[in-house]
Amino acid sequence: MNTRSTRGLWFAVVPLAVAAVVRAQPADPQLGKSPLADVVAAMTTEEKVKLLVGMGMKLDFPGAPPIDPEDEKVPEKVPGAAGRTHAIPRLGIPSLTFADGPAGVRIAPKRNGDESRSYHATGFPVATLLASTWDTKVLEDVGAAFGAEAAEYGVDVLLAPGLNIHRNPLGGRNFEYYSEDPLVSGKMAAAFVRGVQAKGVGTSLKHFAVNNQEFNRLQSNSILGERALREIYLRAFAIAVKEGAPWTVMSSYNLVNGTYTSQSRDLLTTILRDEWGYGGVVMSDWFAGSDAVAQVRAGNDIIMPGLPVQTSALVAAAGSGALTSADLDRAVERALGLVLQSPTFKGRAYFDQPDLWGHAQVARRAAADGMVLLKNAGGALPLAPARQVALFGNASYQLFAGGTGSGDVNKVHVVSLAEGLAGAGYSVDAGLKEAYVKYVAEQRAKNPQPMWFLPLPPIPEMTMAPDLLAQQATRADVAILTLGRSSGEFSDRKVEDDFALTAIERSLLTDLTAAFHAKGKKVIVVLNVGGVVEVASWRDSVDAILLAWQPGQEGGHAIADLLRGSVSPSGRLATTFPVRYEDVPSAKNFPGRELPDAKPLSDSPFAGKPTEVVYEEGLYVGYRHHDTFGVAPAYEFGYGLSYADFTYGPPRTSATTLADEVAVSVTVTNAGKVPCRAVPQLYAGAPRGKLERPRSELKAFAKTRLLQPGESEEVTFTLGPSDFAAFDPARSSWVVEPGTYELRLGASSRDIKGTARLEVPTERVVAAAHRALAPQASIREMKPPKR
Ligand code: BGC
Repeated sequence: MNTRSTRGLWFAVVPLAVAAVVRAQPADPQLGKSPLADVVAAMTTEEKVKLLVGMGMKLDFPGAPPIDPEDEKVPEKVPGAAGRTHAIPRLGIPSLTFADGPAGVRIAPKRNGDESRSYHATGFPVATLLASTWDTKVLEDVGAAFGAEAAEYGVDVLLAPGLNIHRNPLGGRNFEYYSEDPLVSGKMAAAFVRGVQAKGVGTSLKHFAVNNQEFNRLQSNSILGERALREIYLRAFAIAVKEGAPWTVMSSYNLVNGTYTSQSRDLLTTILRDEWGYGGVVMSDWFAGSDAVAQVRAGNDIIMPGLPVQTSALVAAAGSGALTSADLDRAVERALGLVLQSPTFKGRAYFDQPDLWGHAQVARRAAADGMVLLKNAGGALPLAPARQVALFGNASYQLFAGGTGSGDVNKVHVVSLAEGLAGAGYSVDAGLKEAYVKYVAEQRAKNPQPMWFLPLPPIPEMTMAPDLLAQQATRADVAILTLGRSSGEFSDRKVEDDFALTAIERSLLTDLTAAFHAKGKKVIVVLNVGGVVEVASWRDSVDAILLAWQPGQEGGHAIADLLRGSVSPSGRLATTFPVRYEDVPSAKNFPGRELPDAKPLSDSPFAGKPTEVVYEEGLYVGYRHHDTFGVAPAYEFGYGLSYADFTYGPPRTSATTLADEVAVSVTVTNAGKVPCRAVPQLYAGAPRGKLERPRSELKAFAKTRLLQPGESEEVTFTLGPSDFAAFDPARSSWVVEPGTYELRLGASSRDIKGTARLEVPTERVVAAAHRALAPQASIREMKPPKR
């Protein structure tokens, strides 16, 4: 044998053999290419935990929780986004990006080293305004604009919508939420979710659940009865889950009946998944809960924004068996399901070029659709064209487009009312404008935002000498006064100087009304607020009140559209304006009481002493309380004026006995002189039965198309037995009790235009539920007066 050639052969064969061995090694399964089970099976415990514990939020203040130094080295895909998940490149798992929030895609407007351009997002109107449109199509359109913007910036999941119930007007984040009513909240949230997700970006329904205040939010235990829990606080989420199919749900900070929501298997598994059929991911709110293992066990799949202590706790628990592999793998599979849906995984291209101009038009239309005309005496509005306006109030020149915190957004600009009026052809008094712009700038410099994210300190109104007001009243045709309020994460509002007017606001209002009325000129108040304010004590002195809410970046234009009458107001209140704060049923126990002897529940540096808040009002939230207990509101739920008049025909029903489907129709006619849209609302009153019921509950609503003068539209609502059911805690079931139900068709909860009757001959149990999240001790709930 030729040794040379043998050696040559040897050299040729060895590499082939090595290659064969390398090829024979099973390759790592790849997400999306290999079966999901193979990917999960190939993951180490550390990798599984890495997927579940997020990253991406660094806090720079003393005592802030430490983050994993390795995470800091990973470059951000979208600077300024709220958080991310970890990538596991070996298995083809990319990192996902989550960004707030309910008013726009909240990301950093500037990026290091790139001064040439900005990354602003559209500032949409706040959720309370959007709900006041009573138009789910608006929510879908706004959602679609949001979704397109999120996708264009490379975001996978938008941390919105927020749909907690407006339990109390002082709730600091009410502006991020829709309504006091679960039907309105659920329908709006579902429509928003559909709009966003149609653009291939996920949403996060938040904050699940019973998170109705900011005070001590990390250690506050919401204590409530099962009926209020099911019929009010969970119902909005149930509707949004079933009709919107959000990719994610965000568990909240608080405890419910003694358990952190992010650690409650009752809430996250029994109710959300087993009863409602939810198949997506649950993520925690940022730094929520006290026990990562309990979170995963309960069904909270992703823990945000992720801390090293949570990682080590989960790895240890998985090793010791304290966290079963079934529980761990279930969470991992759901997280991988989210990755598979995501634009990042699908390799979707993005260019950081959202259609800011187009979306500004969406924001402007939505803003105009959701503002509510509360008062219009003597035809004060619409304003005649090209008038001279004396424009008062700090917020006229520096509009509150939205609130603060994660519900804020870095927008390019905010159109003030002064700009909006000028754009609509009005001349705003130049001297007054100059004085206000200077004053507001000086005051803001003296009272800056204490820290990024925190609420803005209010700027007191300027005091005005009577002769100056008299001069203005001589020169101008009309006075407009904007009263503004801001709030946001970490604190609730207060009654004095916030819910109620400040002393300076009152005297300004009194003096300017006297000056203008003395000259026979009108005074219009614009409320630029994120939540409810007191109106009853001063509304008689002014001619018109337009509730503009916090209307987003195009707010000034939208307000001017309504004042001028180019759009006729069609917004309706989705939350009651009470006469006095004391009329709010939760006033006595909001925001709860401190438990001085209790041990801290979490070692979070943000946590205070444990507190508890008992929802003694039970079912009687908002109009359910006012109507049942006979307490007159200042402006009721569903209320709002327009520049047209509508007439309602008698309601017609397809059956007189409750069947699987009952149609209720009504013809609405515009009997006014200008085109406008109406908001027919269907309420129901239940018969006296074993379960006490609120006097009236909203069952359906619609918004007509723009009706020309004399034009009509027939609106049909379809209801089924579950719409009439109440939750019976004794049987853990949804039950329709027998008797006669009254259907009330109205233009508001109190302006009922016609009624019809529906008989339920025998009791119907429409759905069985589990006994879950029951209070630990019995609660003394408010009892309605005997019927
Ligand atoms: C808020 C969430 C928000 C998250 C991320 C939390 O403080 O409660 O609503 O999505 O921060 O910014």
